[in-house]
Amino acid sequence: MDLTTKRIIVTGGAGFLGSHLVTRLRRAGCQHLVIPRSADFNLTREEEVRRLMEQVRPEVVIHLAATVGGIGANRKHPALFLYNNLVMGTHLIEQSYRHGVSKFVMVGTICSYPKHTPVPFKESDLWNGYPEETNAPYGLAKKLLLVQLQAYRQEYGFNGVNLLPVNLYGPGDNFDPESSHVIPALIKKFLEAKARGDRAVTLWGTGKPTREFLYVEDAARAIHLATEKLETSDPVNIGSGSEISIHDLARKIAAITGFKGEIRLDPSQPDGQPRRCLDVTRARELLGFQASTSLDEGLEKTIDWYCSTLPARDAAAA
Ligand SMILES: NC(=O)c1ccc[n+]([C@@H]2O[C@H](COP(=O)([O-])OP(=O)(O)OC[C@H]3O[C@@H](n4cnc5c(N)ncnc54)[C@H](OP(=O)(O)O)[C@@H]3O)[C@@H](O)[C@H]2O)c1
Repeated sequence: MDLTTKRIIVTGGAGFLGSHLVTRLRRAGCQHLVIPRSADFNLTREEEVRRLMEQVRPEVVIHLAATVGGIGANRKHPALFLYNNLVMGTHLIEQSYRHGVSKFVMVGTICSYPKHTPVPFKESDLWNGYPEETNAPYGLAKKLLLVQLQAYRQEYGFNGVNLLPVNLYGPGDNFDPESSHVIPALIKKFLEAKARGDRAVTLWGTGKPTREFLYVEDAARAIHLATEKLETSDPVNIGSGSEISIHDLARKIAAITGFKGEIRLDPSQPDGQPRRCLDVTRARELLGFQASTSLDEGLEKTIDWYCSTLPARDAAAA
């Protein structure tokens, strides 16, 4: 599909992943991009989704808008995470179908996978159990949207596709301690500990769980490719295909930030899912997608970006 002349809505297009995707689409020549902000269109409300569709008459919808956060935010707001993500997606899919959208790209999450999925996670394992409890409401809401798109393709021939990205990181990530994911949380922790001259930093959990991370610009490239090429509602994993323990990740971030103290662990705090690493064969076969940014390179870029924003953050906090 040639996207350059299409009217495209990118929900969540001003967010972390969305802003990288929008930059990429603009550079690729897409001329008709609409980014609905939540202040103008609250996408949890069906009438506002309908109003958006009537105003824009989109040919393509890329759905990234979501209520997201790390383990702490998921534990504190399970109802909000379930409700917002479920109804936003449900209304957008239904109204996109009713308004004749020719391609709908759903950005899901690997939090939809069962807690004890064998590593590497294959798309065929998605239904073999209940997700890890702390993020199940979020993961299941997005999983139902995947089923909605499969059902709409089966009954209506609606062209919806489903992507399952791993944990993302990169410039523009959310560094708010209330809702940040593990990489920004650790970067902030180590930089602040270094600035205070602390002798130790304590991590949540045992440090043993493994995670896979994908640099945000690689994720944006995968979504771009899927919007152009993907023609199945079967889910497609989007990741780098390699895992690292939280303890080793912390050691890497400590080294790049220059924190020389001790790394302690607090096993009384939850670990989340024991291991996460995706089988990325399907993305390679269907999209020709492979991650190209190494974790070391991506972390350095992220830390450089965050440090460059500190004067503005300090000024805003003063
Ligand atoms: N970050 C990750 O590690 C990761 C990993 C896997 C999948 N994903 C998925 O990728 C997508 C983007 O994540 P992100 O980290 O970029 O999130 P983000 O920075 O929090 O951006 C989310 C965006 O959603 C919009 N939004 C939220 N509620 C809305 C509402 N009621 N109406 C309209 N817009 C609303 C917000 O728009 P405003 O700015 O206008 O309020 C915001 O810009 C999500 O679907 C997420 O599940 C993310």
